[in-house]
Amino acid sequence: MPDRGDGVEPMRIGSLQVPVPILCAPMAGGPSTPALVAAVGAAGGLGWLPAGYLTPEALDDMVAELERRSDRPYGVNLFLSGPEPEGDVDDQVQAYIDGLRPEAQRYGVAPGEPRFTDEHVAEKLEILARHRPAIVSFTFGDPGTTVVSRVHRELGVPVAVTVTSEAEARTAVASGADALVAQGIEAGGHRGLWFDDPAEPDGGPRTTTAELVRKLVDVVDVPVIAAGGITDGAAIGALLAAGAVGAQLGTAFLCCDEAGTSEPHCRALLDARYSDTLVTRAFSGRSARSLRNGFTERHPEAPPHYPHIHHVTKPIRSAATAAGEADDINLWAGTGWRSVTAGPAADLMARLTGELNAGP
Ligand SMILES: Cc1cc2nc3c(=O)[nH]c(=O)nc-3n(C[C@H](O)[C@H](O)[C@H](O)COP(=O)(O)O)c2cc1C
Repeated sequence: MPDRGDGVEPMRIGSLQVPVPILCAPMAGGPSTPALVAAVGAAGGLGWLPAGYLTPEALDDMVAELERRSDRPYGVNLFLSGPEPEGDVDDQVQAYIDGLRPEAQRYGVAPGEPRFTDEHVAEKLEILARHRPAIVSFTFGDPGTTVVSRVHRELGVPVAVTVTSEAEARTAVASGADALVAQGIEAGGHRGLWFDDPAEPDGGPRTTTAELVRKLVDVVDVPVIAAGGITDGAAIGALLAAGAVGAQLGTAFLCCDEAGTSEPHCRALLDARYSDTLVTRAFSGRSARSLRNGFTERHPEAPPHYPHIHHVTKPIRSAATAAGEADDINLWAGTGWRSVTAGPAADLMARLTGELNAGP
């Protein structure tokens, strides 16, 4: 059992006990690998495998690989597909596609076909019932009582739900959630908003991680995991003192040796010339925090149609990644990106745990 030192409580959610209350966020699209999740588990923390974008078969393979590498507890995160967007999707999406022609031509590709994709939650849960995740989480909505009770019954594990507001938190708890992932505005990647409101500049409330944790621990009686902009043990300690049971870090792990982050993405995170992050719909049609780059500046007004825009920009992003061109890639990053370091995940976990144990 990894040494967690004095003073730091393990994270407890139902029967799940994690010695070090540090979680490596699920990061779909490549960054989270079985090797990364295994390394975080070996260091006493908890890693999440991301099921988002994957087919059920690909998820099966990913979980099987993790189970070959590790016998430590791990979580699996599922995206909820939500309803198909209504309204004049075609016109807005077509106008956006037209605006992408210069980039597409530059890479010699055509924009992708806009389409809605189903996340196949029922099939993925069927697969997970044949494995042994210690916890399952849902992002982009309310899983509802039927899905939550199915996880309890068929997998026998707790359910966490990503929330960005008090209203979402109350609904998730009413649906039976055993824990909440409180995601603040600082977070890298997609915001977990249940409704990405086109009338709001960042798609919804701009509550910080610390504010959200403080608010939620007062109004719900399930454990709250803090996520967004966390980069060191002092920040983790402060959030635990505010009532969180654990801290979930994504960006901090992006350049770990075990992460599957693309080379240009990682290089950009370590490049001092990037000056800022912003919340943008430019890459996927859903509000997400990225490093500010040429693509975010050229496409400030993307229509709120996820996953249509995700599919439309994919060939450009893939070609740019292959060409090493960070200017046209979704460079997901939280506001704390300047603290990103490269190296083994064990070293990052050791640093964070050491800082946390050292106290304020
Ligand atoms: C590259 C990347 C991919 C992400 N993918 C997911 C995902 O698949 N599911 C999810 O619930 N959250 C995802 N997130 C959000 C994280 O769960 C978490 O909220 C966020 O990373 C915390 O903020 P930080 O990046 O500042 O640490 C992603 C974040 C990043 C940076």
